[in-house]
Amino acid sequence: MSNDGVNVGRRRFLTAATSVVGAAGVVGVAVPFVGSWNPSAKAKAAGAPVKANISKLEPGQMIIVEWRGKPVYIVRRTPETVADLAKLNDRVRDPESQEPQQPAYVQGLARTIPGKEEFLILLGLCTHLGCAPMYRPDVGAADLGGSEWLGGFFCPCHGSKFDLAGRVFKGVPAPINLQVPPHSYESDTLVVVGVDQEA
Ligand code: FES
Repeated sequence: MSNDGVNVGRRRFLTAATSVVGAAGVVGVAVPFVGSWNPSAKAKAAGAPVKANISKLEPGQMIIVEWRGKPVYIVRRTPETVADLAKLNDRVRDPESQEPQQPAYVQGLARTIPGKEEFLILLGLCTHLGCAPMYRPDVGAADLGGSEWLGGFFCPCHGSKFDLAGRVFKGVPAPINLQVPPHSYESDTLVVVGVDQEA
């Protein structure tokens, strides 16, 4: 009845999540869908924060949680991955994320809360027309530019590419970087999506 919109959003999201997992299978990377967070469906639709336990996330892995009916990607990056971001500055459209694509407390090329560079947290919605970009951490992927590809996200709908900070490459349909949702850390292993980091 009144939650038709939610169901439609959910269906679209599940389709997207399936395609992410399907694509990950190709490169041998599992993308677990975390279904164990706890607010009720109603609370989630209303925008309740979502907690994600990242204690078991291995370097290179991604999990997906749902917040406000949208997929949120949480990736644990390696130190090398974070260091490599600077190499891509002249190939991405907005290296410093000047446009409003993230909360003010999210900073730097890595696009995180300072000190939390290991964990990338993004809305998994392409900034072109909203498809779910696929996680493609496979460095050197032949279909994504070979040796130029240092890992990132690929949107299957119209070919937009993003790096491992969600920064959009030049020359693709998506106009701006993937959005970093409001978030904070309740502890080193618990991220809360939907609650701002306090200053
Ligand atoms: S929706 Fe992602 S490229 Fe068009």
